[in-house]
Amino acid sequence: MSEITYKGKVVLITGGAQGIGLGMAEAFAKADATVLLADQDEEAGKEAQQRLQATFIPCDVAKEEEVRQMMKQIGEEHGRLDVLINNAGISEPFHGTLDELQLTDFDRVLAVNLRGPLLCAKYALALLRKSDHPAILNITSTRAFMSEPHTFAYTASKGGLEALTHALAVSLAEDRVRVNAIAPGWIEVGDWQKQSGRYATQHTQEDKEQHPVGRVGIPEDIAEAALFLCSDKAGFITGQHLIIDGGMTVKMIYN
Ligand SMILES: NC(=O)c1ccc[n+]([C@@H]2O[C@H](COP(=O)([O-])OP(=O)(O)OC[C@H]3O[C@@H](n4cnc5c(N)ncnc54)[C@H](O)[C@@H]3O)[C@@H](O)[C@H]2O)c1
Repeated sequence: MSEITYKGKVVLITGGAQGIGLGMAEAFAKADATVLLADQDEEAGKEAQQRLQATFIPCDVAKEEEVRQMMKQIGEEHGRLDVLINNAGISEPFHGTLDELQLTDFDRVLAVNLRGPLLCAKYALALLRKSDHPAILNITSTRAFMSEPHTFAYTASKGGLEALTHALAVSLAEDRVRVNAIAPGWIEVGDWQKQSGRYATQHTQEDKEQHPVGRVGIPEDIAEAALFLCSDKAGFITGQHLIIDGGMTVKMIYN
């Protein structure tokens, strides 16, 4: 199979300043894409912009006006968008029983993780229509399909994003936009934070062994699949999700 190139293509990655988003941004930049990073963390965005020679656009994806302005700016500067990757996401507050759950916290997680991708797709659509092969990729989670206790907001948001993926795929087919999802499992992002937030990672043998492939994931695992799913080589794939979790969700546990 020939190398995938994104030469001449404009790729927007939300939450692209750190973590999995930054890993994907680096991979798309290496594939010659014009990479745009949308993030609400300005310190991280400026660092990432320098590291990749990408363009950083400050934006909170939960805020309609900020998303609308961002797409307007992209239209003025690039005239179109080829790939939108809805990656920005938050998991906090992670713990807390149903009794303790604050609805404001629940609403914020839903606003970023579910309403954010919807807003980005809505305001990007006019720009995506101008692309020859437009694609949207939503980053969901294996938590859309299985749960630890007390993770209501995050789990519900990612389940919603899985459903939004097929709703968008079917609805935007008339605009030739393919829409897919990647559902990551445990991906270690400590090395991919802004300098002031970087942390070393120590995985126990148990951490590794609970994955059939024998290790925890890294952002590059997601980036490789993103390069394929957003490319013309995946032209017959839409409305699907790819679980990338080292096999964790198919491992049966009896004790
Ligand atoms: N790391 C994992 O194990 C894992 C597993 C499954 C799914 N995911 C998903 O992958 C995505 C990336 O996660 P990560 O681990 O790289 O996280 P991360 O915290 O390392 O990076 C997320 C980035 O998104 C930005 N962001 C957060 N809220 C935002 C907002 N409202 N608007 C714009 N930017 C915002 C942050 O500033 C940060 O730069 C998320 O959607 C997450 O739910 C991660």
